[in-house]
Amino acid sequence: MAITTHHRILRTFKSSENRMRGTVALIALANSLVSGACGPHAENTPPQWNKWEGRINTLISQMTLEEKLGQLTLQWGGQSEDGNPGVRKDSEEGLAALARSGKCGAFLGAHGAEYTNRLQQAAVEQSRNKIPLLIGNDVIHGYHTIFPIPLAEACSWNLQLIEETARVAAVEARAAGTNWTFAPMVDVTRDPRWGRIAEGAGEDPYLVSQIAAARVRGFQGQSLASNESVMACAKHFVGYGVAEGGRDYNVADISPQSLHEIHLPAFRSAVEAGVGSMMSAFNEVNGIPASGNRDTLKRILRDQWQFGGLVVSDWTSITEMVNHGFAVDNADAAVKAISAGVDMDMSSNSYFSTLGQAIKSGKVSESMIDEAVRHVLRMKYALGLFDHPYSDPSREKLLLSDRHRDVAREIARQSIVMLKNENDLLPLKETVASIAVIGPLADDHREALGTWAVIGKPSEVVPRLETSIISLLDGIRAHTPKSAVIHYAKGCELETDDAAGIEQAVSIAKSCDVVILAVGEGRDASGEAACRTSLQLPGIQQQLVEAVCAAGKPTVVVIQSGRPLAISWIAEHVPAILQAWHLGAETGHALADVLFGDFNPSGRLPVTIPRNVGQVPIYYSHKNTGRPPTSEKYTSKYLDVPWTPLYPFGFGLSYTTFKYDELRLARTSVQLPGNLEVALKITNTGNRRGAEVAQLYVRDLVASMTRPVRELKAFSRIELDPGETRELNFVVPLQNLGFYDADMNYVVEPGMFKVWVGPNSESELGAEFELVAAN
Ligand code: BGC
Repeated sequence: MAITTHHRILRTFKSSENRMRGTVALIALANSLVSGACGPHAENTPPQWNKWEGRINTLISQMTLEEKLGQLTLQWGGQSEDGNPGVRKDSEEGLAALARSGKCGAFLGAHGAEYTNRLQQAAVEQSRNKIPLLIGNDVIHGYHTIFPIPLAEACSWNLQLIEETARVAAVEARAAGTNWTFAPMVDVTRDPRWGRIAEGAGEDPYLVSQIAAARVRGFQGQSLASNESVMACAKHFVGYGVAEGGRDYNVADISPQSLHEIHLPAFRSAVEAGVGSMMSAFNEVNGIPASGNRDTLKRILRDQWQFGGLVVSDWTSITEMVNHGFAVDNADAAVKAISAGVDMDMSSNSYFSTLGQAIKSGKVSESMIDEAVRHVLRMKYALGLFDHPYSDPSREKLLLSDRHRDVAREIARQSIVMLKNENDLLPLKETVASIAVIGPLADDHREALGTWAVIGKPSEVVPRLETSIISLLDGIRAHTPKSAVIHYAKGCELETDDAAGIEQAVSIAKSCDVVILAVGEGRDASGEAACRTSLQLPGIQQQLVEAVCAAGKPTVVVIQSGRPLAISWIAEHVPAILQAWHLGAETGHALADVLFGDFNPSGRLPVTIPRNVGQVPIYYSHKNTGRPPTSEKYTSKYLDVPWTPLYPFGFGLSYTTFKYDELRLARTSVQLPGNLEVALKITNTGNRRGAEVAQLYVRDLVASMTRPVRELKAFSRIELDPGETRELNFVVPLQNLGFYDADMNYVVEPGMFKVWVGPNSESELGAEFELVAAN
């Protein structure tokens, strides 16, 4: 049944593409939803990757089949003491022997210049073909210098800074022998129950696409061959963020339109930014497991997008196709994966152990294997590994350098979103004489590292101050005038229900002028296989919050988490709220910078915050329905909570205020191939310098397919002095205002549109324009 559906969709795609060739006026370029889009057959393989094809051919012609399959094999290569807990111990000699024999072309989990050099040496000096190793690692939000989780970084809407954090991560990782990172994760998700929401850039395809490209640029730099670059890997291709019920690895049931409009664009954006590799996901999409999906891997990625890099499977996602009920056994799964276009097998070893037989029996051709080997070798050449396989151990001094920590502090500050600030409680006044710092995360040295801090260890959440800690508590201590008194109480643990500490917490709250209360989730509560059905504060933290608030003192709640939490009670009863996520190595300083006003908060939500878990999925770019919510009974809403989010996408407050006005369109009637040009003025109407993220949204009012009530199409982050007015000019290509119609043609239809520019997805300043058919 599933296969039938797939074929039906495939045929529809094909027939629509044929029709496109004799195209009608308003059909824009297929699959071109991302900015800077190019046509379906654009050349996205950077020319510099093709320089070695002659050498690659020669090499392939000299390789045995076993050596070829070795190049398609990625194995765990970590030293036990430094590796992830729970992963099997491997002797170094055993791994070197694998490399020497050519049975393995890539390792993951190997760290450190000297160790990885020894593995490389086995490959390039002692193996028959002298082919260097790919050394891959999950450098997701920093290598040694840990940055905020990606969801937090996305709150900065600062593409340059996000590129910079990826650059720093690349410099550190390459110095320590890693030449490949399994990042960025570009999965769009609208489900905070899914723990991996922490690893992505939120709910919006446009924002996620922009950030995907920034991260790829940052990781890969000007040249992959530089000793400051690593190959990026856009993952998880595709639909992984749609896991039903927010349960990791679960089924994704996605309409072809949503696949193309919401989930593919960020991957396309990564390809256009020159990403060297892609990872095929664990999940199935519409009945076809992603690691055996020819349609996405071959037709879209290779044929349409002309991706010339390497496709690696996710961890055992090939053999998991047996559990999916898509392959009979591991051998069948390997045939399906290689035939679908997965070049490299991560950790299941099924390619190495079964594809030889599959070739003998004619299920797979050797040229198919050669093609996969070509992709692997191409990227090894592009990384300069044939010429410079070794890392210079002296470069490891760059790890956790002062400059890198400065970048970590800046991005951490920009990742904080101020959700509420009643009566200007924040920034704290210099006259505050006593502060109660309370909560299970108030003196935390571990959780703030976030889900993917593989190398940054808890002990490394260390400041460059005289003191040796950087918890929120010590950040506050470092920033507070000596005359102020600070009291600390943990109150309760993150997840247990022992209420014994609450009384003391309440008592210190009562004794102080102001309370800072740090609650949320630990680092293991989000990330892979860390999904929750509740978005409440874990354990008895809610009880702690309510008890402390009842003390009646001005209270600031700092939420540290890997996902949006349902904080309706806090939003109603607490005067000031900072959404701080997991901010990484510089957590305490960054928070103190905001609390004391050394930094004016500028973060904006890349994801909607729901009122409760029952609203999920809730996202700003929803459809209107036939019965949009009103006070009438028979409209689309709930009986128990409002249908609106607690905080909308794009939202975030500042210590200053901004006024948007004089929105003008260059033309109210526009024609393809042209642009929508919108100008407006933004004024800083407060008395502090601050950054604002102006967001442009569009709605296609009537179309042949229903369209979202708003879609982000552009944004601009600007800084303004008090009283300063800036004119902003947005230019949005009209071809970006299209969608996939019922026949999967990408179309930009004539008709009326509305455009808004404002500080979040609910802002009202807007205008209408008409898109008219081209002559
Ligand atoms: C995750 C990937 C990751 C890989 C290697 C998998 O379980 O899904 O995102 O890159 O492990 O660590």
